[in-house]
Amino acid sequence: MEIIHLSAECYPVAKVGGLGDVVGALPKYQCKAGHYAKVVMPLYITPFLNKNEWTEDFTGHTNVGDRWFDYKIFKEKNNTLGFDLYLVDINGLLDREKVYGYDDDSERFTAFQIAFLHWMNHWEHKPDIIHCHDHHTALIPFMMKYCYAFENLSDIPTVFTIHNAQYQGWMGWDKSFYLPEWDTWKKGLLEWDGLLNPLASAIKNAWRVTTVSESYLNELSYQSKGLEQLFEMEKNKCVGILNGIDAEVWNPATDLFLDHHFKIKNAAKSKGLIKDELCRKFQFDPSKPLFIFIGRLVAEKAADILPDAFLSTMYLFPNRLNILILGSGDELVEQQLLKLSDHFKDHIHVEIGYQEALSHQMYAGADFLLMPSRVEPCGLNQMYAMRYGTIPMVRNTGGLRDTVKDMGEEDGWGFLFNHASVEDINHTIGRALELYETDQEKMKKVREKMLRFDHSWENSIQHYMEVYESIIV
Ligand code: ADP
Ligand code: GLC
Repeated sequence: MEIIHLSAECYPVAKVGGLGDVVGALPKYQCKAGHYAKVVMPLYITPFLNKNEWTEDFTGHTNVGDRWFDYKIFKEKNNTLGFDLYLVDINGLLDREKVYGYDDDSERFTAFQIAFLHWMNHWEHKPDIIHCHDHHTALIPFMMKYCYAFENLSDIPTVFTIHNAQYQGWMGWDKSFYLPEWDTWKKGLLEWDGLLNPLASAIKNAWRVTTVSESYLNELSYQSKGLEQLFEMEKNKCVGILNGIDAEVWNPATDLFLDHHFKIKNAAKSKGLIKDELCRKFQFDPSKPLFIFIGRLVAEKAADILPDAFLSTMYLFPNRLNILILGSGDELVEQQLLKLSDHFKDHIHVEIGYQEALSHQMYAGADFLLMPSRVEPCGLNQMYAMRYGTIPMVRNTGGLRDTVKDMGEEDGWGFLFNHASVEDINHTIGRALELYETDQEKMKKVREKMLRFDHSWENSIQHYMEVYESIIV
């Protein structure tokens, strides 16, 4: 089966969060399973671009609204990622250093999608599936059906995966002229709540819709930033498929970012050595438990309550633990966290920024990982933590609920709590401290249990294949 994935991110080419991880892994494992999966994404100015070899595959000329542009399609030469990777180069629009965050993002990503369809119009064959990820590629299902220029493509089945419905790509109707001429009778298929809503349009127009855990799919019907009713109406074409993790990249036995590797037998020793290194670097006492938080410092992740929560932690549990935070996002939260770490130097350290290597060392060297997310469609951090024998402390929501079982239950291995609140976080830190201080034997058992988990992509791939097969004509 030939599957084309369209995405704004793909690890290691460009990654901001979990979307990048998923689009870097899913096609690789689809190829391993004998399919022909490819990724098409924008060409940004990233280190990956300079480190690899490219061939120019196609040159075209098209427009987004009244901006006419030339675009080029570059193909990565050596199958470095385990699948064919194509970059769409649009001078002046896509070729920037950051993935998102520019005022003209709507125009940039609409141009990307138009260039892709313009290019595909020239292919001699048709792929079996077009698989779009998140709102940056969400206009494709509509355009394939109702833009006159792409009517040749309307019989190719489309799948849309929602990684995060918090971001919908909303545009005013004044931007509708970005799209090549379309059947205006179909305006309702682009619209939600008076706006041009790319995410809503993909839910309406894609042949099937998936999201990244079953619990999140259920939550979307009552909590999805205004799309609740739409999910309720379209639920028959939606399915929740839990993400896998790239067990080759995230492997404690071979991880390129670690100085000490481990399997079950030597986990205690190697994890201890990695923890020692982290503690030396950040001047913590390694005999105390190490709690970590990694992620975007935004409201979805409940980052805004971390400063208050950790301030209380310092008073409730003085000298009993250390906290290491890696992330970036809301500036106020960044400032508050930095101030806190300044005040409690011996117990809290904050690294603002994006550091892939440090994140691996933290998953491996920590004792506990905290994820109090208000919304978590799947969540990969908790799966990486478990893969490295680190105990997850997560809010009972979305994919966190589907991947972590509380220790209070038979055979449980993590901590679940219900509210993104200072109280719940500290109650859970208290539970974790008790475990660490009084029952190392249980910690060892739980760690060994987690190290045996298999969250690899093989299972999820099968579910995606079933979705594809249900729509291939
Ligand atoms: P989301 O996609 O919502 O941000 P996920 O849990 O799915 O959340 O994935 C987050 C990914 O981004 C993980 O691979 C995590 O390790 C990584 N990550 C997030 N923030 C940072 C950071 N500051 N430095 C390094 N990696 C980070
Ligand atoms: C999103 C979600 C996260 C999920 C990731 C990959 O960014 O916020 O929960 O794990 O996509 O699907």
